[in-house]
Amino acid sequence: MKQLSDRIYYVGVNDEEKTLFEGLWPLPCGVSYNSYVVVDEKVALIDTVEGGFEEEFLENVEAATGGRDVDYLVVNHMEPDHSSLISYMMAKYPSMRILANAKTLPMLKGYYKVSEDRVMIVGEGESVGLGSCTLRFHMIPMVHWPETMVTWVEEEKTVFSGDAFGTFGAISENVVDEDDTFEEYRDEMIRYYSNIVGKYGNPVQTALKKLSALQIERICSTHGPVWEKNIHAVVGLYDRLSRYEVERGVCIAYGSMYGNTASAAQALAEELDAIGIPYAIHDLAGNNEEGLGVSGALRDAFKYDTIVVGSPTYNNSIYPPVETFMKALSARLVKGRRFYAFGSYTWAGASVRLLNELASGMGFELLGEGMSFAQAYSPEKCDMAQVARMI
Ligand code: FEO
Repeated sequence: MKQLSDRIYYVGVNDEEKTLFEGLWPLPCGVSYNSYVVVDEKVALIDTVEGGFEEEFLENVEAATGGRDVDYLVVNHMEPDHSSLISYMMAKYPSMRILANAKTLPMLKGYYKVSEDRVMIVGEGESVGLGSCTLRFHMIPMVHWPETMVTWVEEEKTVFSGDAFGTFGAISENVVDEDDTFEEYRDEMIRYYSNIVGKYGNPVQTALKKLSALQIERICSTHGPVWEKNIHAVVGLYDRLSRYEVERGVCIAYGSMYGNTASAAQALAEELDAIGIPYAIHDLAGNNEEGLGVSGALRDAFKYDTIVVGSPTYNNSIYPPVETFMKALSARLVKGRRFYAFGSYTWAGASVRLLNELASGMGFELLGEGMSFAQAYSPEKCDMAQVARMI
């Protein structure tokens, strides 16, 4: 538990055991499930945390409230990493009412059999007073689910923002950011955005416009540090990512069965190094040093202006981990990228042609017809210096 102001407390938990977020995305630095308590004449709990943290969570809440009852549970977002302990908390606080919007209600019933008489429905701009401060609710649908809303406390200039402005990575005991915290979390924030929220660029833009009308000096997201000193940088990053804006550089993403396509990818990385173009390289099966696979490649596809994809021809098609990556790009509506494909084959090449077709379908600018090479990699077959110059 950490006190953030006279009335606001952090009561979330760190999860450093889970290896895959949503069963998909690696968590090398863990993740936090953030929850908050506003203590006033009435006491409001903002979201809960993932299952498995019942004892720690309740201890945090009790330490924040000094053992007082919780009057309201605000459900900003129903994804189970934040809603899993709703039933548990309802049992601990039998008089507690849930504050949620109309889209949340069927999810509360479907996930946790919550009875309607425990729920107060709130709408856009509506408020609930706690005494000296007021909770006001604003809908931000599809950031990250359709029911998602934020809760703003004007008297504290604080927004409880749900997944918006969240990041992977467990947090320190300080909870609140320092001057350098944004740079420390920047890559994990881009990975979180691209993996989890990346499909919803337009809804994020709509939400940012709505939030820009509010006075905000503290962002309390559901994942990662509480932002006070870095608000400008954090909001700016979400703005750029949701516009699909990029910086100069190359995301090299490849799959490889026997190391030949991997060797070609490595050769390109060395050539980019030699001419000073920033890049990141990812084995899409997660077999390289960073080991983030598709998750890391998505991060850098959101970061850089050029995507170079390598795949061997496999069953006359694209190697499956590479196909997964291309589908992930398409699902996230990634646009405005430059693209190049390469890869090995043994008796008939298909992967480069198929990759180009997928990239064209996403509106990417093709940098040439690609490089399809037979059998083993060799520098003579694969002139990656020429590819690097083209990039
Ligand atoms: Fe952290 Fe969409 O839940």
